[in-house]
Amino acid sequence: MSGSGWSRSRFLGGTAAARRCELLRAFVDPSAHALALPVFVGCSRHTWGMRRRRTDQPLVEAARRAGVDDPRILEAMAAVPRERFVPPDDRKRATDDRPISIGQGQTTSQPSLIAAMLDALELTDSDKVLEIGTGFGYQTALLACLVAEVHSIERHEGLALQAKRNLDVCGFDRVNVVAGDGTRGLPEHAPFDAMVIAAAAERVPDGLVEQLVEGGRLIAPVGASGMQAAILYRAERGQLVAVRELMGVRFVPLVAGDEPPA
Ligand SMILES: C[S@@+](CC[C@H](N)C(=O)[O-])C[C@H]1O[C@@H](n2cnc3c(N)ncnc32)[C@H](O)[C@@H]1O
Repeated sequence: MSGSGWSRSRFLGGTAAARRCELLRAFVDPSAHALALPVFVGCSRHTWGMRRRRTDQPLVEAARRAGVDDPRILEAMAAVPRERFVPPDDRKRATDDRPISIGQGQTTSQPSLIAAMLDALELTDSDKVLEIGTGFGYQTALLACLVAEVHSIERHEGLALQAKRNLDVCGFDRVNVVAGDGTRGLPEHAPFDAMVIAAAAERVPDGLVEQLVEGGRLIAPVGASGMQAAILYRAERGQLVAVRELMGVRFVPLVAGDEPPA
């Protein structure tokens, strides 16, 4: 399981992350008169400007309703254009707080659920994060707004390629997207400060904990089909310790390399 030729590794640095946040903060400041007009912001210094919506956009409100009040997460949601991370025919539905099919029997997750899971990870500007299950790259883009370094693995090569294209178009060109089996993690880039698994398994795959720093956080949908819960774990002395259960969820299955395709 190695990255395919098109995968590139290089990332946003802390300074860029701070600058990007400043821009975004200005964008979401409720007192900012600029909000009345479309504005141009970017999530990285390599990001053009993209015509953005007002901050009261539906997905930010949906995240707030889900209990997310971290301004960094809300800023990221305001800045990432979800319509670029769904199939073209579904762009009009991109601001609905619902999962959307992305082909190969997979979906891009409900944005407010993504926001709640990222919120639970308490990410910082300097974190290095591994995402397992890139899909079309929406959550990957949010992560790129929030942390210093993002690696993401997707088992369907076609989805991984499309995610990379989507991320590049929006200027998130320093994210490392890899086609492969995420149940094995990404040892060549470990250790990670945090991991987010975007597909469900009965338990967190063995071995991932070894790729987390001591005290590192991992969030995953865990449980039998139809009865999963998003669980936050912390790495303690080589073990994953469950910290809390966030909520009941329903995710597509996490399929290990030697299992038949989902
Ligand atoms: C719910 S979707 C991803 C959602 C996405 N993160 C988003 O932004 O909405 C879950 C993804 O996990 C992928 N997946 C399942 N098993 C995997 C594995 N072992 N390694 C990597 N990706 C996997 C699926 O192909 C699917 O694209």
